[in-house]
Amino acid sequence: MNACIRSVVRSGHHFGLTVYGILKGYDGMINGNFQEMDGRSVSNVIQKGGTILKSARSEAFKTPEGRQKAFENLKKFGIDGLVAIGGNGTFTGISKFYKEFGIPCIGAPGTIDNDLYGTDFTIGYDTAVNTALTAIDKIRDTADSHDRVFFIEVMGRDTGYIAIRSAIAGGAEMALIPERKMSNEDIVDKLRFGTSHSRASHIIIVAEEEGISRSQEIAVKVREALPELDTKVTTLGHVQRGGAPSATDRVLASRLGYAAVAGLVEGKTDVMAGIINGAVAYTPLQETITKRKAIKQDLIDLIEILNGREY
Ligand code: F6P
Repeated sequence: MNACIRSVVRSGHHFGLTVYGILKGYDGMINGNFQEMDGRSVSNVIQKGGTILKSARSEAFKTPEGRQKAFENLKKFGIDGLVAIGGNGTFTGISKFYKEFGIPCIGAPGTIDNDLYGTDFTIGYDTAVNTALTAIDKIRDTADSHDRVFFIEVMGRDTGYIAIRSAIAGGAEMALIPERKMSNEDIVDKLRFGTSHSRASHIIIVAEEEGISRSQEIAVKVREALPELDTKVTTLGHVQRGGAPSATDRVLASRLGYAAVAGLVEGKTDVMAGIINGAVAYTPLQETITKRKAIKQDLIDLIEILNGREY
């Protein structure tokens, strides 16, 4: 997020614009919480997690009165273009606002979930995967020395992007993701097959579903069916949302921040700046909100291919 904010600020100056940061998202827009940002205001932030502008889910922005107040504040400050960094909720809000008040807006995809249509990767995803991977590697040491089965739960809201990538990179035996439902019986069968072929330890990556934890529930079922296995559950949680961003994320965020500002300067609006096949692409916000970006089937198959036998 900070790398993107830095890029928006400095790209804005590059085009001769005055740039304001709005604190605490849409609530800040309603409360007039604006601060002018010079080039120095974003010095030394590219390596920091979180967001220097802070973030908030705004109930008030969902109301016509809230949006009206936000519009009046923008007018007062002479703001005639908006860059909104976030996910689905952020884009729904800004697109509605544009349709009501006509202030040009461009979205930059910022979410660890990587679940936005119109970009191959979202800002924060690579860092979250790398954080999960570091944890998986460490947990594997215990799994290996103690011959244990570990269920490691990762975030993703209702998608398995973090799970699938960290599972492949971490050499996990299974990835349980919403996109490919596996019954408890299937999981037990696979574990039975593995142990009967002298696989002593297992790492199973579990994606949360709709933000709800599933791993404890699965582990209980596995313990009932295979009491001889030593099963453990680790939920990684918000550790995945913080820390210094990876190089990939910093570059992505810098490119997208620039692309958002350049798009506004060129007269684009109601679109999201993304990267598709290595190149900047602008996709209507409506499509990013309504279309689903499916996980590539070959990634899902790969886990099975690399771990489905008696290795
Ligand atoms: O959308 C990002 C995300 O981290 C999801 O992966 C997770 O389900 C959710 O946010 C957690 O939200 P909160 O921090 O509000 O609990």
